Amino acid sequence: MSWTKVCMASDVKPNTLKKFWVGGGVIPVLIANYGSGFAAMPPVCPHMEEPLEESGVLANCVLTCTKHLWAWNLSTLEQQGTETEKDLKTYQCKEENGEIFAFIEEEIVYEFDDEDDMDDDSFFAQN
Ligand code: FES
Repeated sequence: MSWTKVCMASDVKPNTLKKFWVGGGVIPVLIANYGSGFAAMPPVCPHMEEPLEESGVLANCVLTCTKHLWAWNLSTLEQQGTETEKDLKTYQCKEENGEIFAFIEEEIVYEFDDEDDMDDDSFFAQN
């Protein structure tokens, strides 16, 4: 794949996030309109895989996952605050003639620690 049309710019209002499917409906891409631009990324928080479409809040170019307050500046991709421990991975993104494109060679996925994925049942089962 390469530059892939994800949506119309007007589909994502300023300071909101919206998930789309590309690549024949197999790759989820979250588009963020942070006011002065757009960003494209996997739809989950790099901390504990929370769906950012639900737990993400955008204000002043900063995306914050409200679960544990990890945050990133979407124009510089710098980590914000003291809680954030991992970088936010993004696809290159551009707007052309009112359309949003992401450069997608393959789906970006995070590696999560096993203990972060563990639910209560499996935690107690192992102890
Ligand atoms: S899951 Fe997003 S900050 Fe923890």
